[in-house]
Amino acid sequence: MAVERTLMLIKPDAVRKNVEGEIIALVQKQGFKLVGLKKLKLTKEQAKQFYIVHKDRPFYDELTDFMSSGPIVAMVWEGENAISRIREIMGATNPEEAAEGTIRKLYGTNIGENAVHGSDSKESADYEIPFFFSRLELVE
Ligand code: RTP
Ligand code: MG
Repeated sequence: MAVERTLMLIKPDAVRKNVEGEIIALVQKQGFKLVGLKKLKLTKEQAKQFYIVHKDRPFYDELTDFMSSGPIVAMVWEGENAISRIREIMGATNPEEAAEGTIRKLYGTNIGENAVHGSDSKESADYEIPFFFSRLELVE
């Protein structure tokens, strides 16, 4: 077991549904500590940089259009095995396949507009956390 930090985004569909608070509360109830939080709107270019690992995937253009279509909420969560445990709390990529009680089951719209993003590995977290937050914005 190791204390980890992971990046989570509340995507534009969930912000439009006004469920940011419910999503944050759900993660807090699992015992994670919120160490960074901000609301912002990505440009198309910034969305392309953030999701650069998917640049050759067929859904890259659609994904980056969506991610720059409205405000998002960026968070850094800290806790034991935060990276994999938060992915479990999020649920499967397709909300229709996500387990009961997961964020995507509760708040996702469809496979593309699926309410939240979470870092999928230590390497991803190390790229994604500094993408959104400076050291001063992460509070112990
Ligand atoms: P995320 O990176 O956002 O946490 O999601 P994930 O790991 O569960 O899924 P990933 O394969 O990394 O895909 C990134 C995001 O691209 C959109 N997507 N659309 N139309 C499609 O078939 C499709 N497939 C993926 C979703 O927004 C997905 O979360
Ligand atoms: Mg992913």
